[in-house]
Amino acid sequence: MYSKEVMDHFMNPRNVGEMPDADGVGTEGNPVCGDMMKLFIKVKDNRIEDAKFQTFGCGAAIAVSSMITEMIKGKTLEEAMAISKEQVASALGGLPPQKMHCSNLGADALRKAIDNYRQKQASGTE
Ligand code: FES
Repeated sequence: MYSKEVMDHFMNPRNVGEMPDADGVGTEGNPVCGDMMKLFIKVKDNRIEDAKFQTFGCGAAIAVSSMITEMIKGKTLEEAMAISKEQVASALGGLPPQKMHCSNLGADALRKAIDNYRQKQASGTE
């Protein structure tokens, strides 16, 4: 039912953990199931240098989190902002239809992390 990419990212998730010195943090909950994702980004010269996540959720949500943190590293904030949940799902070789809602968490948490970074910049706290 799951692609081998999903199984791989679920069994060996990349970039798991907290980032105490993150430049931006985004937390998103999935209204469908109550699962949660927290995404941390480190930004340098408008580019995402590093990303980490903590996800309390199903296997698909963990695979989505792992994949999106890999996809955004090295991207500009604008490029990262443009990543859709469909792109993440397709990078994972697709998700079963009843698990597509699990891909919402990644893209939404990422947007919140970028917004958080921009707000910090605008308020001069970074
Ligand atoms: Fe909650 Fe997948 S069942 S994110």
